[in-house]
Amino acid sequence: MKVMILGATGATGRLVVNALLQQGHTVIAQVRNTETLNALYPGHGDRLIQLKGTVLSLGDGELSKVIHSVDGIICCLGHNLTMKGMYGAPHMLVTDSLQRIITLTDHNRSQPLKLVLMNSSGVVNHSQNETVPFTQRMVLNLLRVLVPPHLDNERAALYLMQTCTDLPHIEWVTVRPDSLIDSNAVSDYECHPSPIRSAIFNAGKVSRINVANFMGQLMCEPVLWDHWKGKTPVMYNQSSVT
Ligand SMILES: NC(=O)c1ccc[n+]([C@@H]2O[C@H](COP(=O)([O-])OP(=O)(O)OC[C@H]3O[C@@H](n4cnc5c(N)ncnc54)[C@H](OP(=O)(O)O)[C@@H]3O)[C@@H](O)[C@H]2O)c1
Repeated sequence: MKVMILGATGATGRLVVNALLQQGHTVIAQVRNTETLNALYPGHGDRLIQLKGTVLSLGDGELSKVIHSVDGIICCLGHNLTMKGMYGAPHMLVTDSLQRIITLTDHNRSQPLKLVLMNSSGVVNHSQNETVPFTQRMVLNLLRVLVPPHLDNERAALYLMQTCTDLPHIEWVTVRPDSLIDSNAVSDYECHPSPIRSAIFNAGKVSRINVANFMGQLMCEPVLWDHWKGKTPVMYNQSSVT
């Protein structure tokens, strides 16, 4: 397959790049600097293509051509955890990037574009009747005001759910990891349709490498894709479930 990764130099994005390369796929990595992936994954020839720029800065023509050439896109974008990254422009980095991708996707594609959004367990899927206790609702209201990236994650998830559900040329999965940690190897993990513990007061853990593994598998395994298509799985390491 040919898959575009947005935010390919990020902590999770780079692991998705590696997972797909290891499985023999071709990766188009959207990056702001090309040195990181050159250093991490040398020698992949034409199977690792770096697209320098951002979804919000590339021209319509160039971006449409890339979207047209890929089977799917995995969005690992996130605001850098600095004052500028959290409070500076673009305030809606993830939502605006998704909107641009979807607007530029050809309606007459031979196969629907597969879109995977890396989101957060703190985002509630109201269409699943997920209930949020009062105190957690209060904290989420505060986060929405004080931490713009949280609002961006909420809007991005809602955008996919509301805009893309009936589009024949786009299919999507929004992956909601619980608190992210770093590990060297893939371990056992579970995906649930809705949170099984409070994302705010009792968060579990999930390794970025497990999230990368799951998102890569979603893209490449049709049965898994059909199972989660149009859904918002929440991810935990097995150790956070038992
Ligand atoms: N931390 C947690 O516990 C947690 C839990 C669940 C979900 N999440 C969500 O998971 C997502 C990814 O997490 P992560 O830790 O892998 O993120 P990360 O390491 O911060 O990576 C973010 C990526 O976004 C890119 N980016 C940042 N600002 C940009 C801008 N203005 N324009 C274009 N690209 C920009 C970065 O590019 P550069 O590499 O060039 O900086 C990087 O590739 C985030 O949306 C986060 O909210 C986090």
